[in-house]
Amino acid sequence: MKILVTGGAGFIGGNYVLTMVKKHPEDEYVVLDALTYAGNLETLKDVAGEPNFRFVKGDIRDRELIDGLFAEEQFDVVINFAAETHVDRSVEDPGIFVTTNIIGMQNLMDACRKYNTGRFHQVSTDEVYGDLPLDRPDLLFREDTPIHTSSPYSASKAGADLLALAYHRTFGLPVTISRCSNNYGPYHFPEKLIPLMISRALADESLPVYGNGANVRDWLYVTDHCNAIDMIIRRGRVGEVYNIGGHNEKTNLEVVKTILKALDKPESLIHFVKDRPGHDLRYAMDPTKIETELGWKPEYTFDTGIQKTIEWYLNNREWWENIISGDYQNYYERMYRDRQ
Ligand code: NAD
Ligand code: DAU
Repeated sequence: MKILVTGGAGFIGGNYVLTMVKKHPEDEYVVLDALTYAGNLETLKDVAGEPNFRFVKGDIRDRELIDGLFAEEQFDVVINFAAETHVDRSVEDPGIFVTTNIIGMQNLMDACRKYNTGRFHQVSTDEVYGDLPLDRPDLLFREDTPIHTSSPYSASKAGADLLALAYHRTFGLPVTISRCSNNYGPYHFPEKLIPLMISRALADESLPVYGNGANVRDWLYVTDHCNAIDMIIRRGRVGEVYNIGGHNEKTNLEVVKTILKALDKPESLIHFVKDRPGHDLRYAMDPTKIETELGWKPEYTFDTGIQKTIEWYLNNREWWENIISGDYQNYYERMYRDRQ
């Protein structure tokens, strides 16, 4: 199969490509990524020389570029990871979330229709379901939980999901959607909670916890998410939504204290700061459908995954220090200057 992976220089797309290029040498992987502030080609350097890997710099909002790439490559599968993903940024500047997450994604689906692509997979999020109360641990998000969003980010992801299902019903586009809970692991951009807290704790800087730290997220180690997507594109039913999650609910304060303990840093680094506007209280996924239909099971618990993640950040300081210094943005220039 020839597989287009959009957003493959980001956190989850990067982990997906690093895993699958080696796991499926019989498949070809083309990564399309605009290399926004969140894209980092250094993440992909371990597969850069593989014969079944190609990188294309480009924006999913650019219809002409998308059309040319589809005409050239004739993809069998498209997996759309490309998105603006940070909730706090969507509060500051919602517009780019609409153009990338909805219009960019529509461009990809139009190209899939035109070139008869066998599958369009949309990587979505549990945030489309809104939030759950903190005092009802019995409630979980199911695939039929109504869409009910809180932030411009989650609203844009919900809009994309609805458009994908509409393209399936109206045009018969072979679409699947996965909605995953919070990911963590290697190559996570240090603006998000876990890598931010690890990098700041290592520098003995204060750790900004929003509100009272009681908000709950349901954490999944990133490669467990990647394996689930791989199963869905191969065996998932067209027109279906699959929830992905591993029953790892933690309050933000529990997460931050776990990191401090593992790094042998004092809890006095924790600073409670003004809350995020519209801050979702609790996410919790019911993954029964993907477990029973496709036999997916996560490999990691939060305890095993967070230790592996902290070790990765300790052993790969250069990757995240280059981000904090801004040097990673010169990498494309250095790598590709002589290759154009
Ligand atoms: P990320 O921000 O780390 O990476 C996004 C990637 O998309 C970057 O490489 C960026 O350069 C690229 N990109 C952005 N705009 C683009 C454009 N217009 N054209 C081409 N490329 C563009 O994001 P992530 O955390 O890896 O998330 C990937 C996907 O998974 C997103 O769709 C997100 O909504 C979804 N998701 C994320 C999580 C999570 O916990 N991180 C959980 C569930 C779902
Ligand atoms: O649930 C899936 C979603 O998880 C994805 O769709 C998003 O793309 C991804 O960014 C993530 O969204 P969150 O808002 O849950 O992740 P974030 O890391 O920004 O925040 C996690 C929790 O930590 C949230 O309750 C806010 C809190 N937080 C975050 C930051 C950055 C803090 O308390 N302090 C911080 O500095």
